[in-house]
Amino acid sequence: MDGVSNQNDFQEVVENDRAHVWHHLSQHKKFETSDPLIIIEGKGLRVWNQAGREHLDAVSGGVWTVNVGYGRASIADAVRDQLVKMNFFGGTTGSIPGAMFSERLISKMPGMSRVYYSNSGSEANEKAYKIVRQIAHNKYGGKKHKILYRERDYHGTTITALSSGGQEERKAQYGPYTPGFVSVPHCLEYRSQWGDVEDYGVRAANAIEEVILREGADTVGALILEPVTAGGGVIVPPDGYWPRVQEICKKYDVLLIIDEVVCGMGRTGEWFGYQHYGIEPDMVTMAKGVASGYAAISCTVTTEEVFNMFKADPNDHMSYFRDISTFGGCTAGPAAALENMRILEEENLLENTTNMGEYLLDALEGLKAKHAVAGEARGKGLFCGLELVSDRDTKEPLPEPVVQQIVGRCFSEHAVVIGSTNRSLPGLNNTLCLSPALIATKSDIDEIIAAIDESMTYVTA
Ligand SMILES: Cc1ncc(COP(=O)(O)O)c(C=O)c1O
Repeated sequence: MDGVSNQNDFQEVVENDRAHVWHHLSQHKKFETSDPLIIIEGKGLRVWNQAGREHLDAVSGGVWTVNVGYGRASIADAVRDQLVKMNFFGGTTGSIPGAMFSERLISKMPGMSRVYYSNSGSEANEKAYKIVRQIAHNKYGGKKHKILYRERDYHGTTITALSSGGQEERKAQYGPYTPGFVSVPHCLEYRSQWGDVEDYGVRAANAIEEVILREGADTVGALILEPVTAGGGVIVPPDGYWPRVQEICKKYDVLLIIDEVVCGMGRTGEWFGYQHYGIEPDMVTMAKGVASGYAAISCTVTTEEVFNMFKADPNDHMSYFRDISTFGGCTAGPAAALENMRILEEENLLENTTNMGEYLLDALEGLKAKHAVAGEARGKGLFCGLELVSDRDTKEPLPEPVVQQIVGRCFSEHAVVIGSTNRSLPGLNNTLCLSPALIATKSDIDEIIAAIDESMTYVTA
């Protein structure tokens, strides 16, 4: 730490936190006997807790967000300068950083043209769903309103975003859900639903067509997919999948929404995950890496064709997109996003992500040679997973408590923060997740792998 923080203040911080903060995704009973973790500072890939202990963060702020790493003074300066000049005005008007970032963003997304600002990944997806629903009303008498989502994908935490969530444990106890959302099969070949098929990618895509035909193509308005499934187990779609998905969407006039909330802004080595596959989406949503967590911002990006469906007779007071997000008018988000993008470009972080991603995936493959519990290593760029099994032949998933022991030991013994699929899929929360900041070096990755290696040996040998 840089010494600015006063160690003596932290007991009060801990007690205030324990008394009043409701932590995300946390069972608070444990804080009756242990202290909540407070992160005090960050620099690069390192964070320090209330006890001054340094950790290597292999998950970019726990949830794949801080793409350019901690302690970027230039982003803080850009945000500060913008805020003292003009902090907020409702999104019916424009702002300097909003306009400038939209141009920079669209320059990285050939085929796309409009940016709608809001604050979170869930909200960005909700906007996309509202766009689909309004198009259904205006163009198809309300009929083509169904939205397909994929098993194991996640699109957010609000009730409607969860309605499109393919993770049962995330959804349990929060229903009833918004009608009109229909699931399609996942595309994880390692756990093939059709046994040993030759062209698994095409088979999994054809399963989408089967759902469209079952529901009636005239009722299906859109399909939302993560380019690489994140919290559902780091699933990289198999060869043949995406071209067939695109073909099916075009054939049945189904809008394709790509959820880039995790993969966007370089995480997979391209600006956006979908760009690895030559896909032409109708809408793209993004959030986490857009400003690397330096400010809250999300975007729902559409083609001009989608946008034009909302341009109509100005006397028709119902035809335009009647949506607002108050904090979508905050200028801190686009100001931070502009500087974030400049850093990604100037420091060649996409290239680093590709190179270091290969190094990381190779290292995970190396763990397979050493550990019987390492079932499959998957990933794209600096976004990798290692699925753990009790038995390689039967692929019986390693029980979640054992997976958690490995994650826990990395943290407690090695001060390395790794992630895992958690509270997502019953019996299948067995994938370790790694998504270090895009500035990661070989030696950072060596340290992460050494921690996992020793922890797996300790817990499972
Ligand atoms: C793929 C994906 N989409 C959407 C979301 C929701 O984003 P937020 O938590 O910002 O609402 C997440 C969050 O983890 C995500 O992983």
